[in-house]
Amino acid sequence: MHKSKPKLIIQGGNPLRGEIHISGAKNAALPVICATLLTRDTLKVNNVPRLMDITTMLILLEQTGVNIHSENQSEVLLSAENLTNLTAPYEMVKTMRAAILLLGPLLARAGEANISLPGGCAIGMRPVDQHIKGLEAMGAEISIQHGYIHAVAKKLHGARIIMDLVTVTGTENLMMAATLAQGTTIIENAAREPEVIDLANCLIAMGAKIKGAGSDIITVEGVPALRGTEYTVMPDRIETGTFLAAACATTGDIFLKETDARLLDAVLDKLTESGAKIKTGNNWIQLKMTKRPKSITLRTAPYPAFPTDMQAQFMSLNCIADGTAVITETIFENRLMHVQELKRMNADIKVEGHTAIIRGIPQLDGANVMATDLRASASLVIAGLVAQGETVIDRIYHLDRGYESIEDKLLQLGAKIERVGQADIPN
Ligand code: UD1
Repeated sequence: MHKSKPKLIIQGGNPLRGEIHISGAKNAALPVICATLLTRDTLKVNNVPRLMDITTMLILLEQTGVNIHSENQSEVLLSAENLTNLTAPYEMVKTMRAAILLLGPLLARAGEANISLPGGCAIGMRPVDQHIKGLEAMGAEISIQHGYIHAVAKKLHGARIIMDLVTVTGTENLMMAATLAQGTTIIENAAREPEVIDLANCLIAMGAKIKGAGSDIITVEGVPALRGTEYTVMPDRIETGTFLAAACATTGDIFLKETDARLLDAVLDKLTESGAKIKTGNNWIQLKMTKRPKSITLRTAPYPAFPTDMQAQFMSLNCIADGTAVITETIFENRLMHVQELKRMNADIKVEGHTAIIRGIPQLDGANVMATDLRASASLVIAGLVAQGETVIDRIYHLDRGYESIEDKLLQLGAKIERVGQADIPN
């Protein structure tokens, strides 16, 4: 395969100003397109973001026998009339852990699934024991063979499942599986993330009987079959938060369209605490910053608390803020890798366990840095935007997994940013 090294080059020091639209949510689109496996009918999904992770998921679905048609890339028609292959291979799963989302629906619809174990990833071990435990409670026989989760169940049955911890894709997998199970499933200690609600709304439109999505107890009454529907994916709250953090850090003034402020309470609170003036409307958010941000102490936790997917971006903001902040990561055990890269830009950060202590300095220095995971990449972009001089970010394929047209959107906001090198190839 062709090996190329695309990089982003950013000249720092320009405040972000202007208006952009927010794309559909990656973490909602991924489970929603997997829901197609639960019906023979056609599912039309709108507002699908153009991202590497979505492409990977569509390829995986195609490999299982799903017919995919997409006239304009944000509208995708999926038809899983016949499922011909029930395996998600390691080569695909290792590039995108969300492939585990095939497990529940394949098992429920076809009675069998063979999904590669995701293994460790940059930000931590990320086991899938809760997905397995829930499906076993619903009657599945599951074994691990040659690095694959092999699951079989003639017909899943309803069960009461108490999750040991809050897991987003775990909740989504079990909710999808339960839609076609015989009887009622109760998922307790369920994830309350808005993306779980979005998936539930799509499943309900397909004929599923689900109550309580968005609370920590979800009840699903199984039905014999689901039907096709047309569904529009919610806006991406993490993309929204990333642009807001970037505007706050650069003393900018931005207007974000096609988003939803109600999804971002914890993030907007923290931005207000840092001194930003925020106005919101039905589907827009405006952020204006006129002075150096104040430091913001935070702790990540499941929704509705501060999202782990925004932690790295707020780390960059704190690097140039006035004061000292403490950031505690409680969701993933190794999600502070951007700290080493930010330090190369002169940031003053000390890490003790899962906690980072950041002493703000007036300005970062541009440097050569390396993206280590999706949200860490976004933090380096923000750092590059506020740094003095040039920042070169390597390994940006991480960024392309989760941010649609990021440099186009930043250019629209007046940033000096350029992509050099060939098309991305994940490794
Ligand atoms: C989802 C999001 C990801 C986000 C994360 C936490 C998608 C596609 N990805 O990931 O962007 O960062 O939620 O908000 O929606 N865990 C177990 N056993 C399990 C499952 C999870 O121990 O069976 C642990 C994980 O290792 C982690 C924590 O639970 O420490 C939360 O993980 P989880 O919510 O499952 O993350 P994902 O669903 O993979």
